[in-house]
Amino acid sequence: MKNILITGGAGFIGSHVVRRFVQNYPNYHIYNLDALTYAGNLENIKDIENESNYTFVKGDIVDESFINELFAKYNFEGVLHLAAESHVDRSIEDPLSFVKTNVIGTMNLLNAARKLWKDNMEGKRFYHISTDEVYGSLGAEGLFTETTSYDPNSPYSASKASSDHFVRAYGETYGLPYVLTNCSNNYGPFHFPEKLIPLFINNIINNKPLPVYGDGNYTRDWLFVKDHAIAIDLVFHEGKNHETYNIGGFNEWKNIDLVKLLCKVMDEKLGRSEGESSKLITYVKDRPGHDLRYAIDASKINTELGWKPTVTFEEGLEQTIDWYLSNTDWLNNVTSGEYANYYKKQYN
Ligand code: NAD
Ligand code: TYD
Repeated sequence: MKNILITGGAGFIGSHVVRRFVQNYPNYHIYNLDALTYAGNLENIKDIENESNYTFVKGDIVDESFINELFAKYNFEGVLHLAAESHVDRSIEDPLSFVKTNVIGTMNLLNAARKLWKDNMEGKRFYHISTDEVYGSLGAEGLFTETTSYDPNSPYSASKASSDHFVRAYGETYGLPYVLTNCSNNYGPFHFPEKLIPLFINNIINNKPLPVYGDGNYTRDWLFVKDHAIAIDLVFHEGKNHETYNIGGFNEWKNIDLVKLLCKVMDEKLGRSEGESSKLITYVKDRPGHDLRYAIDASKINTELGWKPTVTFEEGLEQTIDWYLSNTDWLNNVTSGEYANYYKKQYN
């Protein structure tokens, strides 16, 4: 039995990764470490909480002595690090909390792994899950490759870029066995409704305005979260040491076109007449430092590891909408309490 640590497993992507690893790898004991911030929710992994190869640990990666004790206690052989502050708008309001979790928290995990593995790195692996936002913004043409220079524009992407640099530095300096991936925008079940797609689904259900930033002509490359989890599984097991892989959906959408598609599908699902939901579209003040376009060249992971997305955007979006419509308790639960304060501050 190998002890594997997954951080941030009560969040959006982490919950899909934890579920996949617990279900597919009975020879691993999965320790899910999560601080349960506003974005973490044990409901996201309720279906696997009683599995014998699964343990939830509540804790903060910023707490250095706690992290060191945890590594000493469980002797982890692999780490998949997803815990992070992940929302650009929140990073504009409170950049320091992003430095704490995304930079210091990552440092604590790197130091603990280095200490634990110093006499024998064989078979060990530190997998840092990162974002394409570290590359900054593309113009109308081109794609991010693994060799694109880092050029982050938001406090969020700057903190992720910093943690990526530390992971590589620990690989070069101390020989820490790492892999790193930079992925495009994810969507799917359990996505916290502060990000574009789940926020707009929730607002359409509740007939609330759909706040499109600026002119809506910003472009993102969307990937279904389960395809990201498949890629993470593959890279963890078959990725080459000290390598970076870009992961993307080959699926670029201008925000306004995506929102119109979402409105159309929601009209059908909710039995509304065509065009009803799109009346909710409201152009609002732009996000400062808003990156124009992200798009990933995922040919390396495709040619070297054979990964490609398994669902089309239309299929993934429909599955996502269906999930939110049949999980209104989850949605109401996460949008009660603090969420109302956040919403008021961000959009009023
Ligand atoms: P999320 O915000 O949904 O979840 C983050 C999780 O980390 C939450 O469960 C939260 O409780 C936990 N966490 C936060 N601070 C912590 C701390 N100090 N100690 C322990 N746990 C803490 O994020 P997500 O969208 O699932 O993203 C997961 C990872 O994937 C992040 O590293 C993010 O940068 C990266 N990523 C996200 C996307 C995306 O589109 N969402 C795309 C590419 C990469
Ligand atoms: P988001 O889901 O926050 O992801 P990211 O900023 O990490 O790409 O935003 C996706 C796009 O949608 C981005 O261009 C900003 C835009 N957006 C809006 O227009 N309105 C909103 O209310 C939100 C949250 C995002």
